Amino acid sequence: MNKDLERIVLSEKEIAQMVKSAAAWLDEKFKNADTPPLAISVLKGSVFFYCDVVRAMQTSVQLDFMTVSSYGNAAESSGVPKIVMDLAASVYDRDVILVEDIVDSGHTLSRMKDLILGRGAKSFTVVTLFDKPSRRKLPIQADYSCCEIGDEFIVGYGLDYAQQYRSLPYVGILKREIYEKK
Ligand code: PRP
Repeated sequence: MNKDLERIVLSEKEIAQMVKSAAAWLDEKFKNADTPPLAISVLKGSVFFYCDVVRAMQTSVQLDFMTVSSYGNAAESSGVPKIVMDLAASVYDRDVILVEDIVDSGHTLSRMKDLILGRGAKSFTVVTLFDKPSRRKLPIQADYSCCEIGDEFIVGYGLDYAQQYRSLPYVGILKREIYEKK
């Protein structure tokens, strides 16, 4: 385990099981889709979860990416998600699957939902690895959430603190002294 972590909350094995269940849920939901849904990764946090989920799906999907950032190097959300890189594809008349690593305050998801439905998507489905309902500032939720978590600072498998720890293959709780000393 990385020395800056207090403990692991999701092992690689547990993540693999959650990926499988999320992919199966999406397969069931889109089994009668007449055109391939557009699966969008909200970068950078969702990168690994997204790659694993789309590869575990039986349904054929098209891929696209959007970089949205509201935390920068801070532990608290700025509340204003910034679109750093927009999608390449049009979402007009498409079934859109948005893949997130975490829904926290809900600002990012709310912004994405308004944007994608505002561009004329046919449907909008959100799958997230983590849900932190205790931190919600806006009344919004994912359609499918793998794991509910309390108000802990988690990193790994895409999730960062000041852009670090994303490449850990598991998710763990960051020691308080790491983010309180800065
Ligand atoms: C994180 C995470 C979600 C968002 C959730 O992204 O990946 O997209 O915050 O928080 P919210 O519900 O409070 O909006 P961040 O802005 O840190 O960018 P990153 O994905 O590059 O880490």
